[in-house]
Amino acid sequence: MENKRIAVLTSGGDAPGMNACIRSVVRHGIYYGFDMMGVERGYNGLINNGVFPMDNRSVGNIINRGGTILRTARCLEFKTEEGLEKAMETIRANNIRGVVVIGGDGSFRGCRALTEKGVPAIGIPGTIDNDLQYTDYTLGFDTAVNTVLEAITKIRDTMASHERVSIIEVMGHRCGDIALYAGLCGGAEYIIVPEIEWSFEELCNKLEIGRKAGKTSSIVVVAEGAAKGAALAEEIKKRTTMDPRTTVLGYIQRGGNPSARDVLLASRFGAHAMELIRDGIGGRCVGIKNNQIIDMDITEACAMKKTIDKKLFDIAEILSR
Ligand code: F6P
Repeated sequence: MENKRIAVLTSGGDAPGMNACIRSVVRHGIYYGFDMMGVERGYNGLINNGVFPMDNRSVGNIINRGGTILRTARCLEFKTEEGLEKAMETIRANNIRGVVVIGGDGSFRGCRALTEKGVPAIGIPGTIDNDLQYTDYTLGFDTAVNTVLEAITKIRDTMASHERVSIIEVMGHRCGDIALYAGLCGGAEYIIVPEIEWSFEELCNKLEIGRKAGKTSSIVVVAEGAAKGAALAEEIKKRTTMDPRTTVLGYIQRGGNPSARDVLLASRFGAHAMELIRDGIGGRCVGIKNNQIIDMDITEACAMKKTIDKKLFDIAEILSR
């Protein structure tokens, strides 16, 4: 019997749009004549034989739902030789011919390991962090930025009423993109990201200058990878007469319905991944560059160092005066 089984899993931190992407992978897979299998809890499902058949109906009504119906995990065991071997046993026992992984760079490394073992695997970038250099956008980033923007807008109302400084700490792991994009769109007075040098002195000066220029309230957006919001507030208090309030946005940034842009991206990423699988290609990851869907060698993609858009940062700085 010809082996036509393809498995799909989500791995690492969940991101809005993952469900729409699972739907796209499953429905394109079936369209191309494959038998589609879901894997539960990321790579754990491969290790523990947590695989099950999926059909067009099993991905119904999930297009606009946040999270991932397959559930997800950060699986340390899969990084060991024994873990990989257990996963290979599941793959052999279930006659799986290829794997599609929706996740971040950690998940991509697993993809590479599977391909090296002879199981073509394709990576789809699913993370709110937007921390992969080879692609302009990762799945979930746009929704997360919009979630942060909505929060900034609400916080702005109360800060303006009380004439306060607000520190808003956002996610992003080591990447400052969520802070930069949401900070620019939310009109933040100061944006702190790990990729660009900053200092308490400069921050406090900027706030003081703004105040002297007639600003009655200010917003500082800080990426978690650069500094803790609470520490910033404490230092501002010490150095100025201001009494800032801190909000750590946390996991609300990972939940919620995906934006239209993320559903579109999810649908296009899923389609492209299954075209590669259909053509017998593995070891690549899917991305988007200048609005064109692309794919790239997964090892090369993982080796690329993420950089921040300095021009965008400069625009945000000028607009915040
Ligand atoms: O990678 C997504 C992300 O939300 C990061 O922004 C954050 O640093 C991390 O995951 C938090 O991970 P956990 O779910 O393990 O708390």
